[in-house]
Amino acid sequence: MAESMRGLKRTHRCGELSTANVGEVVTVMGWVQKQRNKGGIIFVDMRDRAGLLQVIFEESDCGAEHFAKAEKLRSEFVIAVVGKVERRSGAINENLATGEIEIRATEVRILSEAETPPFPIEADSKTKEELRLKYRYLDLRRPDIQQNLMLRSKIATTIRKFMSDEGFLEIETPILNKSTPEGARDYLVPSRVHPGCFYALPQSPQIFKQLLMCSGYDRYFQIAKCFRDEDLRADRQPEFTQVDLEMSFVDVDDVIDATERMVANVCEEAIGLKVQLPIQRMTYAEAMDRFGSDKPDTRFGFELVDVSEVVANCGFGVFTGALENGGSVRGINIKGQAEMPRKKIDALVEFAKGYGAKGLAYLSVMPDGTYKSSFAKFMTEEELQALVSAMGGEAGDLLLFAADKSKIVFSVLGALRCEIAKQLDMIDNNQFNFLWITEFPQFEWSEEDERFVAMHHPFTMPMDEDLQYLTSDPGRVRAKAYDIVLNGVELGGGSVRIFQSDIQETMFEVLGFTKEAAYTQFGFLLDAFKYGVPPHAGLAIGLDRFVMLLVKADNIREVIAFPKVKDASCLMTEAPGTVDDKQLEELMLSIVKAESEE
Ligand code: AMO
Ligand code: AMP
Repeated sequence: MAESMRGLKRTHRCGELSTANVGEVVTVMGWVQKQRNKGGIIFVDMRDRAGLLQVIFEESDCGAEHFAKAEKLRSEFVIAVVGKVERRSGAINENLATGEIEIRATEVRILSEAETPPFPIEADSKTKEELRLKYRYLDLRRPDIQQNLMLRSKIATTIRKFMSDEGFLEIETPILNKSTPEGARDYLVPSRVHPGCFYALPQSPQIFKQLLMCSGYDRYFQIAKCFRDEDLRADRQPEFTQVDLEMSFVDVDDVIDATERMVANVCEEAIGLKVQLPIQRMTYAEAMDRFGSDKPDTRFGFELVDVSEVVANCGFGVFTGALENGGSVRGINIKGQAEMPRKKIDALVEFAKGYGAKGLAYLSVMPDGTYKSSFAKFMTEEELQALVSAMGGEAGDLLLFAADKSKIVFSVLGALRCEIAKQLDMIDNNQFNFLWITEFPQFEWSEEDERFVAMHHPFTMPMDEDLQYLTSDPGRVRAKAYDIVLNGVELGGGSVRIFQSDIQETMFEVLGFTKEAAYTQFGFLLDAFKYGVPPHAGLAIGLDRFVMLLVKADNIREVIAFPKVKDASCLMTEAPGTVDDKQLEELMLSIVKAESEE
């Protein structure tokens, strides 16, 4: 039978007590972590979100009735304890914040009993994640997740305070929308009142924040839920949270400045990390050339070297063939790994193939100066020497080469350098390398659609000097777009927006929208631009990713209270689910069964 709290009021959280409280009579409430009955004395570890606390029951202190209750305590019972704080009589526990004290109980109430949980509630759980997510409410009791979510809360509070101090207004934008232009698939919500019509959940508040600038709000921010129906990854969830901001009468530098000061402020407040400002900037072109990625992890080297010119006339057909097809040959120098076992190199070749490579050529400069290589037989000694020297190769180095269209070469070597650094355990976990990537291309060529698509989104302003090529040579236009990268993860991104209707209309044309299609989708924005619009720019930070990186979690799920799994379902609520026929009828929807089900 559950007892009531009547007459008791919690005075402290368990984990908050320390030697400063010695001698005080306190009332604590929380969960039983563990009960150990040593005969005349019972030890109970109590837990709440602040931490663990040791409670001692002896009949001489608490009387027979309470001692009997203490004997009944099991893990996860919810209890209230009244007692006196004392210095530990036994060994001090240095792993525990409250390790120097204990509570000598005079009273215990069992507020709620508990069945044996399906897995132990403990930090660094060894339990399979599926089971933890099915019982997420229990999993969320674990101290490491609680710490993550408490830090997340602190980060959100820090952001709100910072933004408000900087004159940003927090304004909410709608969840039930028309489709937004971020380029992922929309989540749709059927309308009952307008049968056959659908709302789209926002992929971002992009258009609304631009309209708020048109309306004169000047500086906006929002901690906004966004929804994207795309494949899940370690740093991607179908619903996630953005720290979204927009500013009027500004250019690239102003957004970068406000953002990096906000980010630095959060790092300092949340984990005591001092971020050196200004954060380093690198153009997209340089990032690709050196790291093969627009979100390079700069905590380690293995930079790409373009050896196209060196091998242009060599005898290895794989290299010259790629060059003849307009591609390039690039390599990375894995210092000191010449003697990497063949099996491991083969695994790297397979890894490279996963990124579209047709193969991966390798050359080991053996300690005695000879070469071991998959292609040396196709090259003369001079050609090999020139190649090794271009790569800065020394005895003991392993050189890896990809030859293909540059896009593939970048993606292969960009991923490979990260994979190898991980395998060789070269990444310093305590380093936080922030980086701005600027001057993104305005467009990407979509092989699938055979047209240009916006690399950021269609409202992004081209760089002033490239505006002239917008229609004549879209491929060479760079955008006033920027991403902030942390340790190889895209933390956030944004751009200066187009605020001139003629440029916006040209943009839609280049992107292959007809005037009608553009008006159907974004007419209200184009119209708004006719009534006085300030130059404006903005950005959004992925809050989940930011928290994930600050707590050094390797999956975004560790910092989201109720996350979804790979197939976008929730293992606890079993969403998504089917609905009643009545609900479907009201929405005038019917389900078409796939042929295989019929
Ligand atoms: P973008 O699409 O780059 O920009 O998104 C901004 C940031 O949001 C985070 N993010 C995600 N996090 C978790 N799961 C996802 N599925 C996911 N998708 C994106 C990333 C990303 O950098 N409206 C523009 C911003 C602007 O131009 O102001 C936008 O949404 O950290
Ligand atoms: P092959 O002549 O096809 O056996 O290839 C010789 C070596 O070149 C092997 O190590 C292949 O893995 C490698 N290779 C094949 N295609 C490529 C490519 N596009 N880029 C780099 N190396 C490649």
